[in-house]
Amino acid sequence: MKNTATFSKMKAEGDKIAMLTAYDYPSAKLAEEAGMDIILVGDSLGMVVLGYDSTVKVTVDDMIHHGKAARRGAPDTFLVVDMPFGSFHGSLERTHDNAVRIFQETGAEALKLEGADEVVEVTRMLTRTGIPVVSHLGLLPQSAGVLGGYKVQGKTAYAAKKLIEDAKACEAAGAFMLVLECIPHQLAREVSAAVSIPTIGIGAGSETDGQVLVYHDTLKYGSHHIPKFVRSYAETGASMKSGLSEYVAEVKSGAFPAEEHRFTMKEEELQQLYG
Ligand code: KIV
Ligand code: NA
Repeated sequence: MKNTATFSKMKAEGDKIAMLTAYDYPSAKLAEEAGMDIILVGDSLGMVVLGYDSTVKVTVDDMIHHGKAARRGAPDTFLVVDMPFGSFHGSLERTHDNAVRIFQETGAEALKLEGADEVVEVTRMLTRTGIPVVSHLGLLPQSAGVLGGYKVQGKTAYAAKKLIEDAKACEAAGAFMLVLECIPHQLAREVSAAVSIPTIGIGAGSETDGQVLVYHDTLKYGSHHIPKFVRSYAETGASMKSGLSEYVAEVKSGAFPAEEHRFTMKEEELQQLYG
């Protein structure tokens, strides 16, 4: 099992970190078998698995439910679970209790939190509790309502400076890793050089210390809109749909089940049955 020190060493040696989301037993199992460095149980599960139109409806219980399933599928891979919307703001005590629940019940190695500012204090508190924290800056999907949609962040010099300061503050508060979502590639490069913790980009160009993608986008599995920054590596949805259509057609035509799918009663038992 890799740990926080492994990732810091990977950054120092220029060894790129591969991260993918997964939300259940089979997805996590495949990610582990493929050699993923880190699996993220992202709150994106609200959209790609539960069919919500944003991540804000995802609850602590949802994260625990999916986190436990992913853990069973990938017992040997470093697992990060997102703290969902509304679970780490307001009181520090409530935040602490939510974090401890998610961390203990899922058996994850770390938790991820969107944002800086007041979340910096939360990061310090959780790190002191003994929970490794991944920070998440740039586009914050939990704040899409405030940001006015899912837009590239940090495009102005002013916003870029603020993001670099935020990244340093997260590092100083104890975060061991930083996800950078949807920012210009030049800014991602600057941030990656400004902090000593590894940066993991999504829509942030190639100069971060690693990359993360959403499972369903990567495999084209049931995701209706694939963002510009994604490369899909398989046509899973199309292949599943054609398999399912074939199943329907064969049930209708009687081609399935065939002889090899049947169970057979012995002739003598049949004779008794018919008397
Ligand atoms: O929830 C998620 O999938 C994420 C990644 C996009 C980083 O937070
Ligand atoms: Na997320």
